[in-house]
Amino acid sequence: MSDQIIVAIDGYSSCGKSTLAKALAKKLHFIYVDSGAMYRAVALYFLRNNIDLNNHDQIMEALKKIHLNFHSRDYETHITLNDEEVSAEIRLMPVSETVSAVSAIKEVRTEMVKQQQRMGRSKNIVMDGRDIGTAVFPDAAVKIFMTADPKVRAERRYKELLPKNPDITLEEIFENIAHRDYQDTTRKESPLVRAHDAIILDNTDLNPDEQLLFALSKVEPFL
Ligand code: DC
Repeated sequence: MSDQIIVAIDGYSSCGKSTLAKALAKKLHFIYVDSGAMYRAVALYFLRNNIDLNNHDQIMEALKKIHLNFHSRDYETHITLNDEEVSAEIRLMPVSETVSAVSAIKEVRTEMVKQQQRMGRSKNIVMDGRDIGTAVFPDAAVKIFMTADPKVRAERRYKELLPKNPDITLEEIFENIAHRDYQDTTRKESPLVRAHDAIILDNTDLNPDEQLLFALSKVEPFL
């Protein structure tokens, strides 16, 4: 067995990928990397600096100036953008609205994949995203592809967001999820697709503990 174990968790938006990835990393004492947070931090930099998403030179210049770092505390995502803690800001609407477009840019993906591969060098790691098992770590020991009924995903997200957003509607969330699924699966660069050797985890009827047990049973043979 190789010394290093990589667990790649990909799947649709609002499927509970990060919940499972965090729980698994914590249980196994692996490093957890939230690759979506990296795309979000790049989107934040582009927003703040008015980067034109159609201007190759501007994008390349900006990418040279972006330095991202994870600080792993308690298995939550703490990410810095040029030494500034941006973990909260990357979850706000302005970033959520532009990150899909930013993550579809080829130059951005090339740079992020390079950095993600560097992070995974010689460490046990759980990384979640959209292209981890296909593009970042095609040789990962364990690949899990998460999915769930879009209605169930919308209901979960609704319950999560409602306390802080009393005006939000379930229909709105359902449409947003459907839209993101469409964008993620139809973009030209690394669209969301299940790796041929990924295990499907449909968690429509599974609670977080059941999902963790399922994932652990897939990793255990490699420990
Ligand atoms: O998982 P998330 O919602 O935080 O991801 C933010 C965006 O980044 C989302 O539009 C999908 C994209 N993404 C990606 O293209 N590739 C990844 N490996 C991770 C996220």
